[in-house]
Amino acid sequence: MLHKDIVEKLMSEEELAQTVSAIADKINADYAGKELIVIGILKGSVMFLADLFRRLTLDTCQLDFMAASSYGSGTVSSGKVNITKDVSCNVIGRNVLIVEDILDTGNTLYSLKDHLLGKGAASVKICTLFDKPSRRKKPVTADYTGKVIDDLFIVGYGLDYSEHYRNLPYVGVLKTEIYS
Ligand code: IMP
Ligand code: MG
Repeated sequence: MLHKDIVEKLMSEEELAQTVSAIADKINADYAGKELIVIGILKGSVMFLADLFRRLTLDTCQLDFMAASSYGSGTVSSGKVNITKDVSCNVIGRNVLIVEDILDTGNTLYSLKDHLLGKGAASVKICTLFDKPSRRKKPVTADYTGKVIDDLFIVGYGLDYSEHYRNLPYVGVLKTEIYS
């Protein structure tokens, strides 16, 4: 049964598990024998991060979090990004992988990547579950992408609209009447 505010399912629980597993395989291959710091962007990435991180088979990987705000409570990005929580570990000379729920205008990931490189990270790659390239405003590309989607507003599996729907176990398209 779909939630009443959802038009259609975009990714089922089974498809999410397959997508996460495919991304983990690539990360495991790319970082084999290397150290990695995985940084989850709160709060939208938490389900994805939890499922992805436990599939990493690297001998040395650490977990950390950052939080940024650009959206307020609407569906249109303000363009200005505030880092509300910075990493607590030292990233100098380390390989960092940012894990995000969705890459939209690119404002958030552009700022976060710039910030981490500015702190001295040796490399900063981006892993996003969803990508909406048609909405891009900043030159950002993800190194690992679960699924490229059209300009739809999606929720569930961590993704929210105004802090709601994060608990849905699948990802669905939100009815336009909810946010218009
Ligand atoms: P960007 O800075 O415009 O790339 O926005 C990235 C952030 O906007 C994501 O981390 C999400 O929190 C939010 N966002 C963008 N599109 C969606 C969507 O379709 N559903 C839920 N959140 C979204
Ligand atoms: Mg959000």
